[in-house]
Amino acid sequence: MNVEEIRRQFPILRRTVHGKPLIYLDSGATSQKPQAVIDAICRYYSEYNANVHRGVYQISEEATAEYEGARKKTASFINAKEPAEIVFTRGTTEAINLVAYSWGRKNIAQGDKIILTVMEHHSNIIPWQLLAKEKKAELEYVDIDEEGKLKTDELDELIERGAKLLALTHVSNVLGTVNPVKEIVRKAHSNGITVLLDGAQSVPHMLVDIQDIGCDFLTASGHKMLAPTGSGFLYARKELLEEMPPFLGGGDMIREVHLRDAKWNDVPWKFEAGTMHIEGAIGLGVAVDFLQNLGMSNVRAHEEKITGYALEKLSEVKGVRIYGPPDVDSRGGVVAFTMDSAHPHDIASILDGEGIAIRAGHHCAMPLMERLNVPATARASFYLYNKEEEVDLLAGGLEKVRQVFA
Ligand SMILES: Cc1ncc(COP(=O)(O)O)c(C=O)c1O
Repeated sequence: MNVEEIRRQFPILRRTVHGKPLIYLDSGATSQKPQAVIDAICRYYSEYNANVHRGVYQISEEATAEYEGARKKTASFINAKEPAEIVFTRGTTEAINLVAYSWGRKNIAQGDKIILTVMEHHSNIIPWQLLAKEKKAELEYVDIDEEGKLKTDELDELIERGAKLLALTHVSNVLGTVNPVKEIVRKAHSNGITVLLDGAQSVPHMLVDIQDIGCDFLTASGHKMLAPTGSGFLYARKELLEEMPPFLGGGDMIREVHLRDAKWNDVPWKFEAGTMHIEGAIGLGVAVDFLQNLGMSNVRAHEEKITGYALEKLSEVKGVRIYGPPDVDSRGGVVAFTMDSAHPHDIASILDGEGIAIRAGHHCAMPLMERLNVPATARASFYLYNKEEEVDLLAGGLEKVRQVFA
């Protein structure tokens, strides 16, 4: 992968912040967008802006073809069996809520167990808390070990004791831990447990082959994978989608409506009520093309290299404590850390003065912060446009933080 050539395709990377070149190390929160995606959004509005699935006129047909084309590309990106298994959503949060409201309300009853892990993002906790409260179901959490990996014996025990659902993240947005999901899904399925995988931090960064992993649901956010904000998707096995009741009601998700009754549209449209984020989906299709042209194994290899370099460089800064697995093979491009002397918000604001954007806070993972016994961490997260020189500047910025708070 030629990183310099890739960087030239991201116009924002040419800007300066506080007089310094922007060093964007917060792709875990949202990624930057290449010119091809920005152009696709402009093209939609300037050339064929129309609603989809409605008009019989030319530009509506063009919009429908692009929108459905994006679904096809997304399906092939994760190796889904067919495009009908992809429901467009605003992102991971909406996709998980869709499953909790629709599948969850139909399938979870009093006393049922839902297995989660302590490393989940709030998006994969709150929908299940709401459901568990309503249905009087029970939530069970798998703990992590000292390296930030899931305690597999604990998980195995919970799986063996039985549950209706296991909902877990593929890659932790704080620890970076890549969970061994294929093996986990196999064990869960052999005990009749449905599995939802939160792919917000994996789908943008590595090859995710849904047929190989075998999970029942997968969720992802377009804005973390070069696509516009408000785009994302739910993958679900078609049989599951067909059995699930609608999530939101309104236009497009119906086949027939009478005064007191209605019939639903086929999947996936049964779950796409109202006018959708059309240019978001089209942009997602272009982002998928961009990633596929680079090759997801190249993207992953690049991130492993830069993450390994960051682990080495940051651990050389006195007083820095890094969270998550020490080996790059079992982690994604996310490095969360704290410093003896400075609060994460102070770290982030001093780095901002250097043009370096990192995240500081609880990263929407408060239960994990409690487990790690910290109120917050700083977090640098990398993507295909980051380079080693930026890691050097990050390490240099942290030396500055150390001097300020010495
Ligand atoms: C692991 C994980 N799950 C879920 C989400 C929520 O994604 P979104 O805000 O795009 O819905 C995030 C976002 O940071 C995440 O990192």
